[in-house]
Amino acid sequence: MLSPNLESFIRALPKAELHLHIEGSLEPGMVFELARKHGVTLKYPTVEALRAAYDFSDLQSFLDIYYAGADVLRDADDFHAMTMAYLRRAHADGVMHSEIFFDPQTHTDRGIAMGTVIDGITRALDDAKREFGLSSRLILCFLRHLSEEAALQTLEQALPYRDRIVAVGLDSSERGHPPEKFSRVFAKARELGFLTVAHAGEEGPAAYIRTALDELKVSRIDHGVRCEEDPALVRRLAAEQIPLTVCPLSNTRLKVFSRMADHNIGRLLEQGLCVTVNSDDPAYFGGYVLANYLAVAEALSLSRAQIAQLARNSITASFLDEPSKQHWLSRLDAIASAAS
Ligand code: HPA
Ligand code: ZN
Repeated sequence: MLSPNLESFIRALPKAELHLHIEGSLEPGMVFELARKHGVTLKYPTVEALRAAYDFSDLQSFLDIYYAGADVLRDADDFHAMTMAYLRRAHADGVMHSEIFFDPQTHTDRGIAMGTVIDGITRALDDAKREFGLSSRLILCFLRHLSEEAALQTLEQALPYRDRIVAVGLDSSERGHPPEKFSRVFAKARELGFLTVAHAGEEGPAAYIRTALDELKVSRIDHGVRCEEDPALVRRLAAEQIPLTVCPLSNTRLKVFSRMADHNIGRLLEQGLCVTVNSDDPAYFGGYVLANYLAVAEALSLSRAQIAQLARNSITASFLDEPSKQHWLSRLDAIASAAS
């Protein structure tokens, strides 16, 4: 059989996306459309000028623009339109399951009700399941630059929607805001039956990965690429098969690595870690999940077996039930072996 080109090989592999901030999927065109709808005046006169501002030096320089962009989201239809646009693009990339972060505090602090946010997003999740069979889970993230008290209040506000949220997570400015700042919030969330994840070791030190595991009892680490600074931690991540949701284009755009050729995902994969590929904030970082796979595959000369392993890891690391995981893993193995 003729080997398909790399792009069609990657697209055909069943993949789960596990690290995607829905507010980070808001494309410049939609920012302008919603600004017009709601009579909001933007700081940038054109789509091109806004896009030109996406020239980041670090995480904070991105977050400032990302929170400003989210200001045009005002009603449930806006959240529905943004989420639906992401799900269509993910589906086109061969994503069959997506676990989506949302940042309620970015909206409730502007006077938008928690119910408005969740209603718009979940209507799109249900539409995508019905229209093209894409399954999903929702993960509520606390903004770590805000207080423990604000996070506890957010958890309380989310309780009426408990059945639509699988896990809580932790995002925003990492340095100076260690996971243990939220130990009590995460303990409360676990008591309520939520799973937990946390961003750690993106810009922050490897020590934050350890406290996310030991204090927040997370099922996965989001990013985690700075684990390499602590070889004993790397051995632990491999031994315990703790998934890392790695975001290659995000890491180069936010200068975690200066070039894709310097990215450590290939080395971590070789050491047996359960690393996965994700798009983080695709509207801001230049590509959805397929573009992220292609970028690492090309820059690191990954083999097809290694690429298939990354997709396999995404299914294993997901919060899908066991029968669904087995279904997708056998589909994946059939596709990967037919192409080799
Ligand atoms: N890191 C931390 N917070 C975020 C990110 C990220 O990559 N994207 C959106 N919020
Ligand atoms: Zn992220």
